[in-house]
Formats: sequence, C-alpha cells, structure tokens
Amino acid sequence: MTVALASTHSPASTRTAEPVSPIQATEIRHPARVELGKKLFFDPRLSRSGFISCNSCHNLSMGGSDNLKTSIGHKWQMGPINSPTVLNSSLNVAQFWDGRAKSLAEQAGGPIANPKEMAFTHDLAIDMLRSIPQYIEEFRAVFGTEQFTITEVTEAIAAFEETLVTPNARFDKWLEGDDDAISAQELNGYQLFRNSGCVACHHGPNLGGTSFQKMGIVEPYTTDNPEEGRIAVTGEDADRFNFKVPTLRNVELTYPYFHDGAADTLSQAVDIMGRIQLGRKFTPQENTDIVAFLKTLTGDQPQVILPILPPSSDMTPRPAPFE
Ligand code: HEC
Ligand code: HEC
Repeated sequence: MTVALASTHSPASTRTAEPVSPIQATEIRHPARVELGKKLFFDPRLSRSGFISCNSCHNLSMGGSDNLKTSIGHKWQMGPINSPTVLNSSLNVAQFWDGRAKSLAEQAGGPIANPKEMAFTHDLAIDMLRSIPQYIEEFRAVFGTEQFTITEVTEAIAAFEETLVTPNARFDKWLEGDDDAISAQELNGYQLFRNSGCVACHHGPNLGGTSFQKMGIVEPYTTDNPEEGRIAVTGEDADRFNFKVPTLRNVELTYPYFHDGAADTLSQAVDIMGRIQLGRKFTPQENTDIVAFLKTLTGDQPQVILPILPPSSDMTPRPAPFE
C-alpha cells in the first residue's frame, strides 16, 4: 500500500484517513488550579519520607517517566511495575497498566497512600497541607474553601496533568500535510508500522491508550514479573495478561519498555512486538526504519517553570524518611 503524497502544505492535504491523528495543545481554562496542581505534583511532603514527589517517578525532565525497569518507592522499595509516562495521559481511556483508575483525579490518590510508593495516608497529606498557610490560601482561592480534602488535592493535580500534552511532533506535522517533516526512511517505518498491523492496537492521537490487549498473542511473553494486568480489575480469566496498550508518543524518551521494563531499547521492543503480537520477524533494516518512525513521535515537551513551594510552618508534621 502506498501513501498518497500531497504536494502542498495547505490544510487541504491533512491526512485524515490515517489511523493515527495529531494531538492538539491544551487550552488552559483554570490557570490557578493548574498552578496549584503543579506545586502538589512537585511537593515531596506528600510522601512519608518528605523526599518522594510525583515528579520522582514521573520526571518531567525525562519524558514523564523514571527510566527505571520498575520504580523505587519509600525506603528504597522495589516497585512492582514500570512507571508509565504522565505525558498525554489525559488521552488514555483509563489509568494504570490494568486500568484500575477511571480518571486522572482518581489515579492521583493512589500513589500518595501506596505503602510501596509515597507511603503516606490521605489524612496525613491533608494535615500537612492545612498546616501551611500559603496552601490554605491557595486552596481557598481555587476551590472556595479552606476545608479542602483529598478530592480537591487530586482534582488540582489532574488539572496540571491535563496540561502535559506534547503537540507538534514531526509526525503530526506530516499528518497535517507537511511532506518534508519526516524523511523517506521514517515514512517507510510508518508504512511498515501501519501495514503490518501495529495500528490495530496503537492508533488514535495517542497511538495507544484506547484498549487493553493481551501481551503475547501469537507467542507467549515470558517474564519474571508476577503482574497479570487487567484480570486484577475484572476477575475474568480472559483478561489475564491483558495490559493497557501504552501510548507511543515520546516513546524515544520513556525507556525501558513494557510493564516489566524488560526491553532496554526501542529496537528490542519493536522486535518483540513484531514476533509475539503479529508473528512477524522484521529484518534489521525494517526494524531500524520502524524505530526511526517511532522517534518522530517526540513532541514539544511541556515547558514547566519549576514551582517554588511554600515553606512548612511550625505545625507541619516532620518527614519520616527512615520509618
Ligand atoms: C514511587 C514511584 C511513583 C510515584 C511517587 C508516583 N507514581 Fe505514578 N506511577 C508509578 C507506577 C509504577 C505506575 C504504574 C502502576 C500500575 O500501573 O499499576 C504509575 C502510574 C501513574 C499514572 C497512570 C499512567 C498511565 O498511563 O496509566 C499516572 C497518571 C500517575 N502515575 C501519576 C502520578 C501522580 C499524580 C503522582 C503523585 C501524586 C504519582 N504518579 C506518584 C510510579 C509512581
Ligand atoms: C494486539 C495489540 C498490539 C499490537 C498488534 C502491537 N502492540 Fe505494541 N503493545 C501492546 C501492548 C498491550 C503493550 C504493553 C505490553 C506490556 O507492557 O506488557 C505494547 C507495548 C509496546 C511498546 C512499548 C511501549 C512502552 O512504553 O512500554 C512498543 C514500543 C510497541 N508496543 C510497539 C509496537 C509495534 C512497533 C508494533 C507492531 C510491530 C506493535 N507494538 C503491535 C499491544 C500491541
């Protein structure tokens, strides 16, 4: 199959028939809420140790992930699973590898209270925030109450996360009709990606995030990682080893790959996907071309001005990093 190559850059040449679509920059509707959410995202005092923030494992300087096989939590505990990127996560149908949180706000409560992550409780987090006059003032300004709860905390974090989209990837420019935005090799990689069936699962604006699929369709996937995916949510045997199809946006930045972090490189990930999902062994050249295409999915990274966090007061509970 060949792609009709348009000769102009006019909007008329937008490639709407492709299974992948561009993502748009978000419009910020509640700037004060986003700003508060950003502070919370970076505030390590939401953890028992006073040391781990959302940004520890979703580092916005590194594609919104931690680039570790599995994350490190409270007291250097080994996490159970690879940390997915927070970039463009608002485009996912649900959050977590098994989709157990329906929304970003629902998700954000999880890590704070997870003993293997931030190891705090929601009550302690609220006590901490309410002990800081500047936070009380900000919550009042944004939500109209000083009696805020974990609901407002997670809504503010979600509002910030919704701004973490990465438009203007070179591939999006190509989708919008700019023929010169990607090279002949990258285009070939995309055609291989599309025509061999990767798009059955990795489609739409996020090239993923729309469904749960079995890891290992044609050949079983072998791993030491005990996580079983979607079955943890549905209890259905058919969902064993089904995981949320991850986004491929910014995938160049979010190594290592898969829920167990077992693939160190994109080349390995593409080889495994071809074999176990599609029964297809790519030649080294095909693999290189697909990897080249995947790298065109890196978009403008959010320009985050590091927030200055309000200081603790005399009443603020002190961190307990070693307990
Ligand atoms: C100790 C490391 C760690 C910390 C701290 C942490 N996360 Fe995560 N995060 C993870 C891991 C690991 C997963 C995947 C867990 C799973 O799927 O079971 C995850 C999943 C997510 C997801 C789902 C993304 C997707 O595509 O499914 C979002 C969104 C997210 N975290 C946001 C946050 C926010 C907001 C905070 C702070 C309140 C936070 N995380 C703190 C490690 C961490
Ligand atoms: C049947 C659905 C399906 C097909 C077809 C498929 N994938 Fe995947 N892909 C997944 C799922 C599910 C995962 C996550 C699996 C896991 O981590 O256990 C994944 C993960 C990936 C990852 C790792 C992303 C990350 O952040 O960890 C890459 C890269 C990838 N796929 C590329 C491809 C390519 C290239 C093709 C075509 C050769 C392809 N996929 C075909 C479902 C699919």
